[in-house]
Amino acid sequence: MKIAVTRKEHFNAAHRLFNPDWTDEKNDAVFGKCNNPNFHGHNYDFFVTLIGEPDPDTGYVYDLKKLSDIIKEHVLDVFDHKNLNLDTPHFKNLNPTAENIALVIWRILRQQIDNQYELKIKLYETERNIVEYPAH
Ligand code: NI
Repeated sequence: MKIAVTRKEHFNAAHRLFNPDWTDEKNDAVFGKCNNPNFHGHNYDFFVTLIGEPDPDTGYVYDLKKLSDIIKEHVLDVFDHKNLNLDTPHFKNLNPTAENIALVIWRILRQQIDNQYELKIKLYETERNIVEYPAH
């Protein structure tokens, strides 16, 4: 009997979308306003879901306070109020799209959470732009 539990978290951060292998014109054409050289910010909301069997003693699938502490230490303290392109090692050579941010968060948390739990990330870059990893 598997149950999904979810913790909602938030950070805000600046980024710029561009491909260094392209000309300024092509970056403008593809990324538009998101290519602004002086960066722009988003309020990112994300959902971390763990799927597993409830523990017979506690009734918990996972202690959400413990999950909250892990997210704070390994994700929020790294990304919140940062410039993703300039301030974090993760996006030095990786375009900080919502897709890649979700993937990076998944990789960070996957190292912290036992493999008996399935892990999913759902990231809202805006109220209307949402990505999920893994897709299934
Ligand atoms: Ni943006």
